[in-house]
Amino acid sequence: MPRERLSVVVTRRLPEVVETRLSELFDVRLREDDAPMSREELVEAARGADVLVPTLTDAIDANFLARCGDRLKLIANYGAGVDHIDVATARQRGILVSNTPGVLTDDTADMTMALILAVTRRLPEGMAVMQKGEWHGWSPTAFLGGRLGGRRLGILGMGRIGQAVARRARAFGMQIHYHNRRRLRPEIEEEHEATWWESLDQMVARMDVISVNCPSTPSTFHLMNARRLKLMKPTAVIVNTSRGEVIDENALTRMIRAGEIAGAGLDVYERGAQVNPRLRQLPNVVLLPHMGSATVEGRIEMGEKVIINIKTFEDGHRPPDLVLPSML
Ligand code: DGY
Repeated sequence: MPRERLSVVVTRRLPEVVETRLSELFDVRLREDDAPMSREELVEAARGADVLVPTLTDAIDANFLARCGDRLKLIANYGAGVDHIDVATARQRGILVSNTPGVLTDDTADMTMALILAVTRRLPEGMAVMQKGEWHGWSPTAFLGGRLGGRRLGILGMGRIGQAVARRARAFGMQIHYHNRRRLRPEIEEEHEATWWESLDQMVARMDVISVNCPSTPSTFHLMNARRLKLMKPTAVIVNTSRGEVIDENALTRMIRAGEIAGAGLDVYERGAQVNPRLRQLPNVVLLPHMGSATVEGRIEMGEKVIINIKTFEDGHRPPDLVLPSML
């Protein structure tokens, strides 16, 4: 007798090929529109499912997990970051959590470089002048930015993405420095010609560019708080393609406005889409709508990972991208 198919609920629209493949393999409930589900819709949907495929816009917290019934057995997150999921509580309730690491590394690192370049070479200011039709020709002293070559880049979080940023930044001639919970193995440090700083404070005080590439966890919340931001050189800039919560956004805004930090390139924000309005008014700040991993290829590969995780689970094995509370 054919086995009953797993019931899978997907909370957002995914690329068509991914949705098609999910429908071929599972008894899947897809979204008609792309708006995030309300809390009640999400609870209702999860109650009738074996597998939930959420994204970072769904809060899978203890309260949600307590209300979603006993059927749910796997949360196959469409995304690498799992800061919106209470992994420990899920585990206690016998629900596995998987994610999609690796496939968005290069895209996010590319975007980090794009932000570093955009801020240091003043791309938005140049674009604004062109869009307004206010450019009157070349000038030796206009739009002077800083040369990347020789600048010190301090990478906060030297995991997959941090290392991919290091590789790119070296090609631009930057000097690589990093702070990480654990020091990298000597051969990896050598590969990146990277200098490890045990003290984040000391690293921050000496860098020209800071790149935030660590995940959001309770221990990285406001790692770049007002005190630490104050340590930055007034000529330095900061970019963040990880999670907004790592930087105290209000303190950053105040300091850029006061000229205490030279600029910022941000793809993520502390309060999601509620971006500090003052930040939006600053010419030396480049803001993007959380699009670091937004490539067609990346989104499809994320879907493939989700499918492999569900399929492996269905076959009675441990999903390859299982997230354990001890990993966070
Ligand atoms: C993730 O997968 O966590 C990314 O932030 C999505 O862009």
